[in-house]
Amino acid sequence: MTQDADRPTPSPSCPIPGGGARRRDVLSTVIVGAGCVGACALAYPFLDSLNGTKNTSLGEDDSIDVDIAALRPGQQLVVTWRGWPVFIQKRTPEMLASLKTADIVQRLRDPDSKILQQPKDATNWHRSVVPEIGVLIGICTHLGCVPSYATPSPNDKSGKYSCPCHGSQFDVAGRVYKDAPAPYNLPVPPVTMLSATHVRIGQSKGDPAFSIASIQQI
Ligand code: FES
Repeated sequence: MTQDADRPTPSPSCPIPGGGARRRDVLSTVIVGAGCVGACALAYPFLDSLNGTKNTSLGEDDSIDVDIAALRPGQQLVVTWRGWPVFIQKRTPEMLASLKTADIVQRLRDPDSKILQQPKDATNWHRSVVPEIGVLIGICTHLGCVPSYATPSPNDKSGKYSCPCHGSQFDVAGRVYKDAPAPYNLPVPPVTMLSATHVRIGQSKGDPAFSIASIQQI
């Protein structure tokens, strides 16, 4: 993370790297469904500590296995890995189509994921191992706030992320828009699809040598 003289004072909704929110290592989940925008992201740290649903388990090393069977199209599940919020989305056909829409792609800073912010098996148009399941580390690459998820709606079927701190916008693949203060796409963690209903976060079958420490910025 770059140093910035204008760096804001850390707050619960705008954590900075190394802050307490980053160091927590709690395995829990929150599903964000339709109509949950903005405030859901701000409420995330509190929901995370209160939610009683545990559908993660420890895998090898520091990986976690997540049961995504309950995830419906358009919804997002939030889990914690290495103290970071990790967003797991089940994408609709409309969400996937938006990732190739020229009007959107031309407004993105790094549409082809040329900057190392993801493993090799997520260096593709959908930035994930399989197109239908997206996995992103929910830390804005500007100053570390947690972006909020706007679920697909009848007016906007593509879905997107918005950072509540300084307005950076990301598409559902975590690709940042050019006019945003965030310089890079949201990081993608190493992911292995264990089955259609279970995801391992922390290990990449398609890029086993990948280390999250090697990315440009988190
Ligand atoms: S932290 Fe500044 S735009 Fe996200």
